[in-house]
Amino acid sequence: MVSGMLKEDSLKSKTILITGGGSGLGKSMAEYLLTLGAKIIIGSRNQEKINKTVDEFTALYGNNIIGTACDVRHYDQVEKLIQFGENQFGEINGLINNAAGNFISPTERLSANAFSVIIDIVLKGTCNTTLALGKKWLKNNTNGSILNIVTTYAFTGSGYVVPSAVSKAGVLAMTKSLAVEWGKNGIRSNAIAPGPFPTKGAWDRLFPKEIQKLVDMKSRIPLNRFGEHHELTNLVAYLMSDYSSFINGEVITIDGGEWLKSGGEFNWLDAVPNEMWDKIEESIRGAKKS
Ligand code: HXC
Ligand code: NAP
Repeated sequence: MVSGMLKEDSLKSKTILITGGGSGLGKSMAEYLLTLGAKIIIGSRNQEKINKTVDEFTALYGNNIIGTACDVRHYDQVEKLIQFGENQFGEINGLINNAAGNFISPTERLSANAFSVIIDIVLKGTCNTTLALGKKWLKNNTNGSILNIVTTYAFTGSGYVVPSAVSKAGVLAMTKSLAVEWGKNGIRSNAIAPGPFPTKGAWDRLFPKEIQKLVDMKSRIPLNRFGEHHELTNLVAYLMSDYSSFINGEVITIDGGEWLKSGGEFNWLDAVPNEMWDKIEESIRGAKKS
């Protein structure tokens, strides 16, 4: 396995808030950023989950991580989480909008509340944290950095996860909009669009057993495998570090080529066996004669 890319202490001057940092990819991000010297604040709805992650990483890496319950759908809770972080670590200068809610469903089966709940977590939650921290950064002339975790269907759209697609597309629009509006104040805004990276949260809701029987998810990916968390966290660390200080308004896809494969008109020709190509070539060349 390839290990960490950045030098030790690369993030020593960074205090980074990660929403949903108690599990899945957010937890992996928290761990790697801690090893690079960052101070980390995590928040999500489940206080017990947050405490467990804070205790686990404090034992491993020391007192550079704190966390508390925060539902990003509520602006007052987001303000409280920021205050909680500042009380302990002083100024926050990085924000990773990672918290999300999602599940597969035919759209017409959704209740109005089911549609809203996803938009509220993913889009409104991201707006809440961004606005609350952004206001502070502008007031204090802080060179902050925002990193939004979207996904590839933020640009393509996708059936069966429509509330999530709507929300991630909105987050992507905000990423690019604020890169310009707040860029002049030294605040960077970027996004990462991951393909499938196994986590319990995503797999339980998006690829349950019944679905896994229907489709081989790996075969959709040119590299024929899922992403590994360290591949994503290396990219996250780079984008949160000063090594990426001129990257602003960018969305970086990390999906092994998955979304391009489903988009390219003739990519299905992978299915043609090598030995058939002589015959096909002959037939195509023969077309000149007719
Ligand atoms: C239809 C459903 C449903 C389902 C819930 N609902 N599950 N409707 N099909 N499978 C409806 C409920 O009936 C309710 O509507 C409304 O949605 C809210 O559900 P609750 O359970 O009350 O909400 P809550 O407890 O707040 O839970 C939120 C949640 C849940 C989003 C539904 O899944 C959750 O907590 N998710 C957090 C983690 C997560 O989703 N992680 C995956 C991210 S992966 P009514 O009308 O009955 O009140 C990801 C990757 C994308 O984003 C890309 C992959 C490649
Ligand atoms: P996950 O483990 O389910 O993580 C989602 C996190 O969000 C949880 O820790 C959850 O904690 C938190 N959360 C949910 N609702 C919240 C709310 N209202 N307020 C605060 N926190 C909330 O899933 P994951 O796979 O790691 O996903 C992480 C991010 O990567 C998401 O943005 C997802 O869209 C994106 N992504 C994942 C994949 C993948 O393949 N895994 C692919 C593309 C994009 P609580 O339950 O405690 O609130």
